[in-house]
Amino acid sequence: MTPTDTNPLAPLLTRVSVGTKYLREPAPSHAELLRMAEAALRAPDHAGLVPYRFAVVRGDAKQRLGDIFEAVALAQGKPTEQARRDRERATEPPLLVAVIARIDAGHPLATVHEQWIALGGALTNFLTAAHAMGYGGKMLSGSKVRAEPVMSAFCRPGESLVGWMVLGTPQGVGRPKFSKPAPEEVMSLWQGQPPGRPA
Ligand SMILES: Cc1cc2nc3c(=O)[nH]c(=O)nc-3n(C[C@H](O)[C@H](O)[C@H](O)COP(=O)(O)O)c2cc1C
Repeated sequence: MTPTDTNPLAPLLTRVSVGTKYLREPAPSHAELLRMAEAALRAPDHAGLVPYRFAVVRGDAKQRLGDIFEAVALAQGKPTEQARRDRERATEPPLLVAVIARIDAGHPLATVHEQWIALGGALTNFLTAAHAMGYGGKMLSGSKVRAEPVMSAFCRPGESLVGWMVLGTPQGVGRPKFSKPAPEEVMSLWQGQPPGRPA
């Protein structure tokens, strides 16, 4: 099944993450990214808080992000060669989209975990829209999202950096990292079982 099959569920049933190694130009245009963000905004969102935003990193900005990644790696004591590889995590993908959380911990209606779920739904919709439009992508994070220079390059007060989606035109996808369970494994019928004997 491909994302363009007539099955309306095809994009949902065929999406897989595509890492940087398998991404080439062209990257999505700004107009296409806006369509992906529109799809992200369809995710369930208790109280309509939109507890996330996206920041696009393309062109020369990738070099500037690479500078930050390299500096963080060197400050963490990594050898020069490893720091250079960290730099490439910013410069190699055709495009990056940072995912920034803006969680309202004191909201009277939507709990913190509900807001994180809304964010997860949004980034999933974003990636599925990219796939449906013929692009590949993958959500990445790693310890550098918590490094102060990286955080402060993206986040306003009260925000936190979740990571970034790498995006581009897929050339192969590599081998799936994990196999998916059969749907029956994640769904059962609850018929009023007493406590202690859950469905
Ligand atoms: C918030 C978040 C952060 C992630 N960070 C990483 C990461 O740093 N490195 C990585 O290899 N996979 C990371 N993943 C997992 C991949 O994006 C991907 O989902 C996983 O490899 C499974 O592939 P699939 O999406 O095709 O099932 C992350 C996923 C999420 C949701």
